[in-house]
Amino acid sequence: MSKNFYITTPIYYVNDVPHIGHAYTTVAADVTSRYRRMMGDRVFFLTGTDEHGQKVEKTAAAQGITPSELADRVVVRFRDLWKKLNISNQDFIRTTEPRHHNAVQALWKTVAEKGDIYQGEYEDWYCTPCETFLTELQLTGGKCPDCGRQPERLKEESYFFRMSRYGEKLLKHIEEHPDFIQPTSRRNEIVQFVRGGLKDLSISRTTFSWGIPVPGNSRHVVYVWFDALVNYLSALGYPGDQESFRAFWPADIHVIGKDILRFHAVYWPAFLMAADLPLPKQIFSHGWWTLKGEKMSKSKGNVVDPSAMVERYGADPFRYFLLREVPFGQDGDFSESALVGRFNSDLANDLGNLFSRVTAMLAKYCGGKTPAPSHEGKLKEKAEAVIRDVDRYMADLAFSRALQEIWGLINAANRFVDQQAPWALAKDPAQAGTLEHVMYDLVETLRIVTLLITPFMPDTGEKAASILGLAQGWCQRDLLSWGKTPEGRRISVAEPLFPRVEQTVPAEKTESQGRKKKTERPESEHNAAEEITIQDFARMDLRAGVIREAEAVPKSDRLIRLQVDIGGAEPRQVVAGIAQSYAPSDLVGKGVVVLANLKPTRLMGVESCGMVLAVEGEKGLVLLNMDGPVVPGKRVR
Ligand code: MSP
Repeated sequence: MSKNFYITTPIYYVNDVPHIGHAYTTVAADVTSRYRRMMGDRVFFLTGTDEHGQKVEKTAAAQGITPSELADRVVVRFRDLWKKLNISNQDFIRTTEPRHHNAVQALWKTVAEKGDIYQGEYEDWYCTPCETFLTELQLTGGKCPDCGRQPERLKEESYFFRMSRYGEKLLKHIEEHPDFIQPTSRRNEIVQFVRGGLKDLSISRTTFSWGIPVPGNSRHVVYVWFDALVNYLSALGYPGDQESFRAFWPADIHVIGKDILRFHAVYWPAFLMAADLPLPKQIFSHGWWTLKGEKMSKSKGNVVDPSAMVERYGADPFRYFLLREVPFGQDGDFSESALVGRFNSDLANDLGNLFSRVTAMLAKYCGGKTPAPSHEGKLKEKAEAVIRDVDRYMADLAFSRALQEIWGLINAANRFVDQQAPWALAKDPAQAGTLEHVMYDLVETLRIVTLLITPFMPDTGEKAASILGLAQGWCQRDLLSWGKTPEGRRISVAEPLFPRVEQTVPAEKTESQGRKKKTERPESEHNAAEEITIQDFARMDLRAGVIREAEAVPKSDRLIRLQVDIGGAEPRQVVAGIAQSYAPSDLVGKGVVVLANLKPTRLMGVESCGMVLAVEGEKGLVLLNMDGPVVPGKRVR
């Protein structure tokens, strides 16, 4: 049954141009929207810009323009980037629009009538770049704990929101709705914070004027976060009794970065409770991208420009990389060479090659037309399992897991080609029936892969659909099952979907010549990674180990929990994603190489303290082992 689905991104400040972080959140929300649409939901996907506040006012003044001129300029940058990245939002809200102005004032009045807003005096620290009030206790060495800059001391008359009334109610809501704040680690942080006691919140300012006037007292403007959060309601027509508000509120997911979780998971629900409005169903806070381990910032000049990445590699590979490289919810380090590596291995090799070889063989052995459907076989089983798993992972916004599943299917199809060797079958007339089955299975797998990758890579999906001769309406839930390709469909031979790329390091000056020199890296995947020193290598504590115990992780078809002897008093617990290549019983006694100083993590709830090294082989993962007896715990050099 079709369901309404409302998803939002944060609205982005216009004091700065878009960077990779903005692109990340927006792409994630877009992929989810596209997937939900494919599954038949009626989706409302909202993004926009946050245009008020002191930060915007100051930036505009520094540029000698008005805040609204600044907003008009920067908003174009965001809109252009979303177009380039194929973002399919239904609406784009700007907080300077009248519809938003009305909604903010209406919410303010409702909360004030409830008795939850009062006038008082505020004295504390304020960090303008973060638009956040800070208490003495929150400062780190006198500086803002988030951006490290010097906050200002503020004393002013202010309106306060009675946040202190809502702590208990909020804790109860979080407890009763385990999915309300995701991932779970973030929920725990918020619970700790709320348990520490909520203070009333200053929600108006008098020291600048770039904002929405407080109803009934225009000397005050509404605090920028009270203003901004309301965008999620104003885009639905609040406070009017509009069809879209009834259809889409409460929101299904607010996708945000971890930096603004508290505003969304504490302030926002409290405002909504005060206005007797239902709370959003989920707030999903993703991690941060860093560059060479450092926070990106304009002052350091280490900000990754998403437009440049799209121009160099295309929208689809960039979208794919953002969601494949780092599990959504965790932090990750951006590197262009990793993007190039994924482009060449996952897109050009695995996906692109599968399309080229299957369509070329179909032309050669079946006259370019699909044979009669076959309704059994290994690929059918695999495809059906992948469709189910992808659905589960997409519901959890576990994009990288979903993509791993899809690539599991792509790789299974590539192996199937190698095992079945259609070129050999074609030589033997007695094998004509088998050849037809094999080719049908491959074409049907290509079609299912096409549907599954489309939310992530919409342009590639369209291209693939046209190669496969799919008719309009090809991208929908009913067709996401095995056996929907009819006999006799004409299929074209695919041009390479992703011609391999090389990383182009930005032009740099050579000392001797004093002129620009373009440095390029060789194409090979092995050379795609950055050069490192022997000291860099020495930071990895690689050790010889022997597996003492191995057991499957419950409910996972990929993970095995290992106890590995690496010379310590206790064996080391490592969770490895090798269940599709090894049975636990085959592993006990095997020598392995362990990365022993990898930061511990939890996989399907099981702690993993290290990693065993493996390499992609012809039939799945192959563990690295030693060419002779070794003592567990010896360093690998
Ligand atoms: N205007 C507020 C949000 C108001 S929502 C009611 C704001 N804007 S922002 O322009 O600073 O954008 C913040 C968002 O950008 C983060 O929540 C996150 O989604 C994204 N990111 C900014 N830098 C980031 C990284 N380096 N990495 C990943 N995402 C980050 O806060």
